[in-house]
Amino acid sequence: MRTFAEIGAAVVGTGFIGAVHVEALRRLGVQVHGVVGSSRERAAARAQEIGLPPAYDTFQAMLDDPRVEVVHITSPNHLHHEHAKAALHAGKHVVCEKPLAMTPAESADLLQVAERSGRVHATNFNIRFYPVLQHVHGMVREGALGDVRLVSGHYLQDWLLLDTDWNWRLEPELGGDLRAVSDIGSHWMDLTTFLTGKKIIAVMADLATFIKQRMQPSGPVETFATGRGVKTVPREISTEDCATILLRYQDGTRGALTVSQISAGRKNSLVFEIDGSTSAAAWNSEQPDELWIGHRGQANEVLQRDPALLNAEGRRASSLPGGHVEGFADTFRALYAAVYRAVAVGNPLEGYPTFADGHDEMLVCDAVARSHREQRWVEVERAVRAPAG
Ligand SMILES: NC(=O)c1ccc[n+]([C@@H]2O[C@H](COP(=O)([O-])OP(=O)(O)OC[C@H]3O[C@@H](n4cnc5c(N)ncnc54)[C@H](O)[C@@H]3O)[C@@H](O)[C@H]2O)c1
Repeated sequence: MRTFAEIGAAVVGTGFIGAVHVEALRRLGVQVHGVVGSSRERAAARAQEIGLPPAYDTFQAMLDDPRVEVVHITSPNHLHHEHAKAALHAGKHVVCEKPLAMTPAESADLLQVAERSGRVHATNFNIRFYPVLQHVHGMVREGALGDVRLVSGHYLQDWLLLDTDWNWRLEPELGGDLRAVSDIGSHWMDLTTFLTGKKIIAVMADLATFIKQRMQPSGPVETFATGRGVKTVPREISTEDCATILLRYQDGTRGALTVSQISAGRKNSLVFEIDGSTSAAAWNSEQPDELWIGHRGQANEVLQRDPALLNAEGRRASSLPGGHVEGFADTFRALYAAVYRAVAVGNPLEGYPTFADGHDEMLVCDAVARSHREQRWVEVERAVRAPAG
């Protein structure tokens, strides 16, 4: 098998998450040959500012570079389909950010192209790769919680609380018709599907847009930026600030999720609890190294991440000894370690989220939107196919 140092990559998008991709790849020893931004000048300036590899002149110039075997797509959502498809057609392996595309038809198309290509394809559901969550995956599979009955929790943020907060995600033509649900709710729903091994089969969703008009700066704004004092224009907002969703998973498991980007003080709080017939497991992303395990007939436990105490799955995702907290950026390293093992052998393997998972999440989000529109329970339609041709 080739070493990671023999594999070349490039990253499309130089914003918040593009930089995280580059750093994780560098930690693994992958050769990141360059980045692509919205323009060469902006990408070059950003590359210099934060120490990214050089900027390609164009997206096509990156595709034409024979050293690049793997392309990471971290551009805004509306470009994922075009960028990922072009990269697959150019013979590259592709890691694409979530949401995989703008519509289920687009994601079905990408899945079909990816599967026909024989290339490695991954959707960037990095949250699965917190070490204690890999541990939970193993616990559930081995029956340590008994039969999973109830999954509850939230994903709350506050960075869009004010009407002066702005980001491309607020514009449906750039981010999609759903916002909070597809941006962060998708992580929660993918994660709980992964942990329980059960797909979401039906949803009952209530979406709300509290801030119906926002002040849009005249120039571009980076994700999570909080700058004020720029010139603005009022814009009507149609995408949801928050959502409450009831979920039915396979085998009768029930779920309840709250999603919000307007929850003061919650910077990035993903919380879940899985209640089984014998025990429970709960986790909060703001204390990522701690796993709560609940019992009825004995004292509850708090497992602090320590490779020596985790099962094989948890150990594989850990890179630091216990007590040295691993966080958000480390999950990218653990995810890419799994993806690049497949790249090293040259074809897809198991052990990481693929375009099939990205497409499935698009179908669940589509059901959420329909449920809200029609004000009723709706089933997730898993028959959506790629458009012909
Ligand atoms: N997995 C995660 O936890 C996570 C976290 C944040 C964002 N994301 C996803 O990553 C993507 C980017 O989000 P972000 O927060 O980094 O946004 P951002 O606005 O910070 O960055 C977007 C980048 O895309 C670049 N871009 C715009 N048009 C382009 C084009 N035509 N060609 C190449 N690059 C172009 C911009 O220059 C910018 O560098 C989104 O799809 C988002 O959902 C995932």
